[in-house]
Amino acid sequence: MTIHIGAKPGEIAETVLMPGDPYRARWAAETFLENAKLVNDVRGMLGYTGIWNGHPVTIHGSGMGMPSLSIYANELIRDYGAKTLIRIGSCGGMQEKVQVRDVIIAMTASALSTPSSGIFKELNFAPCADWSLLRAAVNAAEAKGVPTHVGGIYSADVFYDERPDLNEQMTRHGILGVEMEAAELYNLAARYGVRALAVLTVSDHLLTGAALPSADRERSFGDMVEIALEAAFA
Ligand code: ADE
Repeated sequence: MTIHIGAKPGEIAETVLMPGDPYRARWAAETFLENAKLVNDVRGMLGYTGIWNGHPVTIHGSGMGMPSLSIYANELIRDYGAKTLIRIGSCGGMQEKVQVRDVIIAMTASALSTPSSGIFKELNFAPCADWSLLRAAVNAAEAKGVPTHVGGIYSADVFYDERPDLNEQMTRHGILGVEMEAAELYNLAARYGVRALAVLTVSDHLLTGAALPSADRERSFGDMVEIALEAAFA
């Protein structure tokens, strides 16, 4: 057990899918895993371990924002031996060509700051996805026929942004979407020599104001879970 995860040793799989929302973790585990067992509920952050296609998989919430994700990813990697961590979540679209409901597979994640900024100091480290996972996820998404974009995303520190000029610069520089977790997941994966990827559904759009109807959210989320699982074991 760690400070924030109540799982016993051996109850966390080497492959971990991380949605932001703990209820999404429960839904994904109950929908896609056999014999899903609740292994963590400390502070309501749900984690489940079960079997997908014969492989042990944990689906564990990250919470919202990089400080929260950092707590869970650090403990999953350092204390429980997680080796492959895939964020599955939502993002805001930042390009005209990106539509609500599309999938974005994040090659890189730019950020104004991350919980790792304190160690990088003046260095602008470039957090990037694991190539083998990225390639496998793109193959899985294409095989499913899901409209998919691959490229850079922006991991913001705030949802209610008082600096809209930063979003404009991200759009100008080709960034596909904005979310709040991937950059630190990629930093930690680099630090500890494990694999990480973020697979995101566009839930809202900063340029058009469009938003994914709530009835469609479950289906889009299910596509992401399948893409992530197929990528992890490709
Ligand atoms: N996650 C989903 N939509 C987002 C947005 N517009 N900004 C930041 N994070 C998000």
